Amino acid sequence: LTTPRPLIAGNWKMFGLEASLDEARAVAAAVSEAPPAARVAICPPATLLHRLAETLSGEPVLVGGQDCHPAAQGAYTGDISAAMLVDAGARLVILGHSERRGGYGESCELVASKVEAALAAGLEPIICCGESLAQREAGQAEAIVTGQIRNSLPASLAGQAFAVAYEPIWAIGTGLTPTTADIAAIHKAIRAILVERFGDHGASVPILYGGSVKPENAAEILATEDVGGALVGGASLKAKDFLAIINAA
Ligand code: G3P
Repeated sequence: LTTPRPLIAGNWKMFGLEASLDEARAVAAAVSEAPPAARVAICPPATLLHRLAETLSGEPVLVGGQDCHPAAQGAYTGDISAAMLVDAGARLVILGHSERRGGYGESCELVASKVEAALAAGLEPIICCGESLAQREAGQAEAIVTGQIRNSLPASLAGQAFAVAYEPIWAIGTGLTPTTADIAAIHKAIRAILVERFGDHGASVPILYGGSVKPENAAEILATEDVGGALVGGASLKAKDFLAIINAA
């Protein structure tokens, strides 16, 4: 089996204005000069997608969206379709982030329909899962995550490029991280479902870890069994920090 290159993706969330493009330019310049082992992506807010894609055109840094609507088009005020992300220059899209599952009540079924829309538009989805602190403390982390994975991954992912991101909610933006043994245990449980669902292909799908990944902990986390990359929030906004994480892969 071939092991795919790890994926290091930056999720800018609702941060970033025109000036942030300079950080992305600095990342691209460094990645071009010294190509890392990892694939690199930046997922900016929708307002910056097109400008970022233009800025990075010809550079080995991919651009991604942070969400999409499940429909191809329609009367959905404020929403963005997968084809619109592609039109703006995106190649990937983050789906089912806990800030959308929690903040907007997105169900696994809705996430699965967004994955279908993303695939139909030719995007590589990064499908997120993760437990809350209460769920972890109640010993339910694995059951919650595996439930999310079972229900958020449509059968149409078979043979398609996609990634899964495990982001424990209590580790996001808090500076807290699970032990590498805890990360490995959850990734192993996710892997088992991917293999059960997609066979050999499932064995090679990258499973990213996300939640307070920083230059200081990136090497240890990325060296953990079955960690195929990272989904980076805060630390992806500064070129210096993001590059340190990229180069730790
Ligand atoms: O999607 C990435 C994210 O939720 C992690 O955020 O700031 O803890 O790296 P952060």
